[in-house]
Amino acid sequence: MSLWGRIFAAGYDTFMARPEKAVLRRHRQALLARVRGRVLEIGGGTGANLPFYGSGIEELVITEPEEPMARRLERKLGDYSLPTRVVRAPAEELPFEDESFDFVVSTLVLCTVDDPARALAEIHRLLKPDGQLLFVEHVRSDEPRLARWQDRLHGLQVRVGHGCHCNRKTLESIKAAGFSIPQLDHDKLRKAPPIVRPLIVGAAERVSAAP
Ligand SMILES: C[S@@+](CC[C@H](N)C(=O)[O-])C[C@H]1O[C@@H](n2cnc3c(N)ncnc32)[C@H](O)[C@@H]1O
Repeated sequence: MSLWGRIFAAGYDTFMARPEKAVLRRHRQALLARVRGRVLEIGGGTGANLPFYGSGIEELVITEPEEPMARRLERKLGDYSLPTRVVRAPAEELPFEDESFDFVVSTLVLCTVDDPARALAEIHRLLKPDGQLLFVEHVRSDEPRLARWQDRLHGLQVRVGHGCHCNRKTLESIKAAGFSIPQLDHDKLRKAPPIVRPLIVGAAERVSAAP
């Protein structure tokens, strides 16, 4: 684990505090209120979603491949009475049975995974046929001027954001992985740098087969 990886994990809650309060908390709360049954969260980070999971959960599995993040997440679990376990695994290779989860949750993770198409294929494989992927993700801007800045500053953002890509077309990737999008909102991640502000929030459902 790099020194920056450890610093990034240690500072994550602090540098996300303002966008969290301004925007993210509301979306996490609204999206996670309906989560039930067996739930998988990928890239759980420091556990920002934990306060918003409700009582209808049978099992919550949170994956997190980065050790400094996973340790922080495990420390926070004690504050919540959720049937939870943390699994150290990347979203591209998830050690679970096909069609075994009712919901998969991804918040600010598809920007960072090494291979979004593989991660989404795994999510598609793991969801039950009537399951849903719930997502809050920052994405490439639809405004050409901001998108150009996202491209220009992309290399810097990957380093500073510990692998975070600010110019990914994540909505298109979700659709290309065999999902329909019955619920979608666009928002801005206020109090964050402009290149990571365009935000998509919604739910995706499996279409019958992976492409
Ligand atoms: C920006 S943080 C988001 C954390 C949390 N989901 C949240 O909403 O605050 C991105 C997270 O993705 C994790 N991550 C990085 N590569 C990953 C991968 N290949 N698969 C799953 N998670 C990954 C990072 O360790 C980090 O915890």
